[in-house]
Amino acid sequence: MSKKILVTGGTGYIGSHTVVELQNAGYEVIIVDNLDNSNIRILDQITKISGIKPQFYQLDLSEENKVIELAKAHPEISGVIHFAAHKAVGESVQLPLKYYRNNFFSLINLLTAFAGREVDFVFSSSCTVYGQPDQLPVTESAPVKKAESPYGNTKQVAEEILQETAEANTNYHVISLRYFNPVGAHASALIGELPIGVPQNLVPFITQSAIGKRGPITVFGDDYNTPDGSCIRDYIHVVDLAKAHVAAIKLLEDNRTIKYDVFNVGTGKGSSVLETIKAFESATGVKLNYKIGPRRAGDIEQVWGDVTKSAKELHWKAELGLDEMMRSAWAWEQYIAENPFE
Ligand code: NAD
Ligand code: WQD
Repeated sequence: MSKKILVTGGTGYIGSHTVVELQNAGYEVIIVDNLDNSNIRILDQITKISGIKPQFYQLDLSEENKVIELAKAHPEISGVIHFAAHKAVGESVQLPLKYYRNNFFSLINLLTAFAGREVDFVFSSSCTVYGQPDQLPVTESAPVKKAESPYGNTKQVAEEILQETAEANTNYHVISLRYFNPVGAHASALIGELPIGVPQNLVPFITQSAIGKRGPITVFGDDYNTPDGSCIRDYIHVVDLAKAHVAAIKLLEDNRTIKYDVFNVGTGKGSSVLETIKAFESATGVKLNYKIGPRRAGDIEQVWGDVTKSAKELHWKAELGLDEMMRSAWAWEQYIAENPFE
């Protein structure tokens, strides 16, 4: 009998790729999403890739009674991967209560609904919890810095809620994955990131600029204390990231002594904004238009992860490099331009 995993936010960017990897690994999947930031057509796209249509509930996790009903209706669920959240850093500064309400209520409702049974729980955290680390690469034991935004704060506090809940409730076994910068798309180009409006993140802006949907890219600052002056990030291919969730579920299944643990999910290698632009050009043969602009408020100068613990204990390592990240992001941008969802 295959195990059943509930994936919240499963029609979203990282969730959809994780659903495919769970199916590839033999798990059955139930998706819950309110489609606030994703499209129902992603379900068909997942089915085209894996041949299996996941069960789907359109439901808002911030409504407690609905989440309790769902958990009751599915006593067979053995694991929960919780992606569903609002994630726009800038918007969270403008609308902090929107972020606190959605991200906290959803998490608390899920933990309440599944409290009575043995459940493996994997949570989407972020390298944003480290702020600008004192030492690079940053390890999981680095201090959590004061959050730069309400969004970042929801990740920090959610990690605390999870740790305290797991320690108080013997039924819970929890892993928080701290993602670095997820980019790229599935090799089929049938699923990928679908930003609404002007992309705030670098790689979707690059691909939209390349296809002519946006003007030139602005590099936010070239006067940082880095080799080429632009900021450095640890970009991680979304398919590698998706596989880290399968590894986390397997680790929790195999090691029942884990109550709560945290892992970095990155490549362990930093790339600057200018290197990323060059990597896109060389991977795709498409020339980009870019200009240097002022620094963006709140940006961290440089961050990349130490992934030693993930390799040793999670038995997971990133396999795909910047070239493949750029190639797949471009293939997805072209696919969605030719096959728009609306
Ligand atoms: P996404 O917006 O594509 O996916 C999130 C999904 O959750 C969306 O489909 C949205 O409709 C759904 N959702 C939101 N609130 C909901 C609710 N109350 N009830 C039901 N569904 C709800 O985002 P993503 O990039 O796939 O991110 C997934 C998770 O990873 C988020 O928790 C995000 O904070 C975290 N994360 C993302 C990044 C990144 O750069 N993309 C980096 C670090 C961490
Ligand atoms: C990457 C680099 C920009 C756009 C954000 C969140 C973080 C995490 C991931 C969830 C930076 C530069 C960007 C552009 C540019 N999300 N840039 N021109 O800021 O590392 O992280 O998303 O947890 O919390 O803060 O990612 O893709 O926005 O930026 O020069 O048009 O690209 O300054 O150096 P970031 P990003």
